[in-house]
Amino acid sequence: MTRFRIDRLVKQNRSDFDCGNEALNEYLRRHAGQDQRRRCAVCFLAIENATDRIAGYYTLASGSVDLDRLPADVAKRLPRYPATPVIKIGRLAVAMAFQGTGLARALLADAYKRVLELDVGAFALAVDAIDDDAEAFYQHHGFLKLQSRTIGERLLLLPIV
Ligand SMILES: CC(C)(COP(=O)(O)OP(=O)(O)OC[C@H]1O[C@@H](n2cnc3c(N)ncnc32)[C@H](O)[C@@H]1OP(=O)(O)O)[C@@H](O)C(=O)NCCC(=O)NCCS
Repeated sequence: MTRFRIDRLVKQNRSDFDCGNEALNEYLRRHAGQDQRRRCAVCFLAIENATDRIAGYYTLASGSVDLDRLPADVAKRLPRYPATPVIKIGRLAVAMAFQGTGLARALLADAYKRVLELDVGAFALAVDAIDDDAEAFYQHHGFLKLQSRTIGERLLLLPIV
């Protein structure tokens, strides 16, 4: 049996979740459910099977990226529409007790598979990384960094297939 399962957020108790980043803890506790009810994001939880503890989470929402921001070798494979559809990872975090076990990699793989199987056009997974560490994490997993347009923006893309 695998150690974790991935469930969509419903009413699981989220009060104990601690990834070491208060904004990401707070988002899961207070805002993820509301965003989901308003259809502005869907939240997926990694649950440890043995304990039913929440070990990690990520959110997905639709978005777009301006075609002229993409590297030439990526843009040339796409239609010439000014905005190109993507699915955005809004947030992604792993609880401290589970960090370093490969769970973040598994969450990214799960997100990738969902987008691949989605009956909605989206050519890439995109993320606006919250800090330099997060940016390094996504680059480690093959995401391409786009030129920043505003100070502090760290937009990255992982083309699907
Ligand atoms: C960043 C975070 C998601 C990583 O979770 P994790 O479960 O510890 O990561 P994994 O064990 O799945 O690591 C997978 C790979 O990513 C690498 N990695 C992890 N954090 C990294 C970082 N900050 N920079 C570069 N690589 C990183 C690991 O070395 C590992 O590489 P390998 O498989 O080639 O050996 C987690 O530490 C976290 O939630 N931190 C607080 C919240 C946060 O910062 N979230 C935003 C960033 S996504």
